[in-house]
Amino acid sequence: MSEDDKVNTGHNVESKDLIRNARKPVGELGHQILDRMNTSHETMAQWGVSHFEIESDSKILDIGCGGGRNIERFAEQISKNGRVVGIDYSEVSVEKSTELNRKFIDEGIVNVLQGSVSDMPFYDETFDIVTGFETIYFWPDFINDLKEVNRVLKKDGLVFFCNEAVYREGKMDKYEDLIELLDMKIYSEDVLKESLEKTGFKDFKSFINDENDWICVTARKI
Ligand SMILES: C[S@@+](CC[C@H](N)C(=O)[O-])C[C@H]1O[C@@H](n2cnc3c(N)ncnc32)[C@H](O)[C@@H]1O
Repeated sequence: MSEDDKVNTGHNVESKDLIRNARKPVGELGHQILDRMNTSHETMAQWGVSHFEIESDSKILDIGCGGGRNIERFAEQISKNGRVVGIDYSEVSVEKSTELNRKFIDEGIVNVLQGSVSDMPFYDETFDIVTGFETIYFWPDFINDLKEVNRVLKKDGLVFFCNEAVYREGKMDKYEDLIELLDMKIYSEDVLKESLEKTGFKDFKSFINDENDWICVTARKI
């Protein structure tokens, strides 16, 4: 692989062709990156989900569900009265999430759908919890997409986002290549707070893991 085929992700030097699939997994490399993300995001996801509670009858939506590991995690914690729905605009992500969660789908507690965050096929006030792991970087219109998240949440419902990159003044050089390759947006704690507050959320909380540069945030629908 020549230097031109590689990208510095801020953590490692990787193949551009593989990493391009983080935005919208397609084909064989899409399958590969989803398998990898199910494992490589696990420690961060476990840290993230320690910041909120789910009930056995919670109705949970995971947006940008990727390889489906977080669907599986939530499905393991609910009863037959709960539901986990995963949505992703990538056909390969839907395939992977479905494959991983086949048992829960057959039990009737998990559904996986293909679709965009910007226009989701759910009634108003359907979910108790909406989550997004490593996905908001790619959402096309963050404010409108947050309004859509707000629409499908019940009153007092919880939104949760978890990212392994957070914007910090003077510390973004290491992400320059990745931002350009993926056309992604890395949000600061302040922008997340302001965006959620202007789209109908209250009780914003944020947690930063300084050692790893991770951020997770929660807020409730007004
Ligand atoms: C970096 S992967 C993260 C996958 C998984 N959540 C995880 O933490 O391993 C980003 C995922 O978000 C999905 N995604 C990006 N933009 C989206 C959008 N506008 N609507 C729905 N899904 C989207 C991608 O297809 C991809 O599966």
